[in-house]
Amino acid sequence: MIVVAHVSDTHIDGGPRATERAERVMRHIDGLRVDAVIVTGDIADHGAPDEYEIAREILTTRHPTIICPGNHDARGPFRKVLLDGDGSDPVNQVLRVGPVSLLLADSSIPGRAEGRLDESTLAWLDQTLADTPGKAFVGMHHQASSLHSPYVDGIGLRNPGDLADVLGRHSNVVAVFSGHAHTAAATTFAGLPLLVGPGVVSTGLTPYESDDRIPVAMEQPPGFALHIYDGEHLVTHYRVVPHQTST
Ligand SMILES: [Fe+2]
Repeated sequence: MIVVAHVSDTHIDGGPRATERAERVMRHIDGLRVDAVIVTGDIADHGAPDEYEIAREILTTRHPTIICPGNHDARGPFRKVLLDGDGSDPVNQVLRVGPVSLLLADSSIPGRAEGRLDESTLAWLDQTLADTPGKAFVGMHHQASSLHSPYVDGIGLRNPGDLADVLGRHSNVVAVFSGHAHTAAATTFAGLPLLVGPGVVSTGLTPYESDDRIPVAMEQPPGFALHIYDGEHLVTHYRVVPHQTST
């Protein structure tokens, strides 16, 4: 059994609210029996080095962790602080967890809210999946399918067809993970489950819940997804992490 905790959109901005919510979720996950943690982007709110310094502390648990950038991140500071690296190339990484591989691709376009997997990232994904002997999960920040939520659909992945082409060449992909929409959502993409991790910093709402142009609920508690895979079936449980109340 492989169990993956999926966190997204911490938007660390140096202020106490985002820090507390991210700490609350990560402290909770630290106490769980999971095999790995994935964080699908928008780690920092402004892509600033001091935001990543805070994020590095908070996102460190006893579990192996893999992190990709989102549209609020900046590759340079992201690499320098979180990965001890340099450069502005897409941040594409793989984490092997027992027989399973977790591939996180960089769908960010520097300076833009919408996403795209560039040629180098698509080639990396294609080659890494080919080199993966067992089952694989593919994650990225931007969602590749419509979520029936006009605001986030307008800033989603711009080249889902290119991703579908790559995924279609490999039979070992179990599911696709994303963030960006700040909502615990489940849909499909390219015949696979597409599971969206809830936003730690806030919750994105649908037009059926809010009339706002950018419909966001700030008062809902932060959450995460728990993906459980037995080699055949994937089951996802979504959890919120409310404040501890003393009894
Ligand atoms: Fe976000």
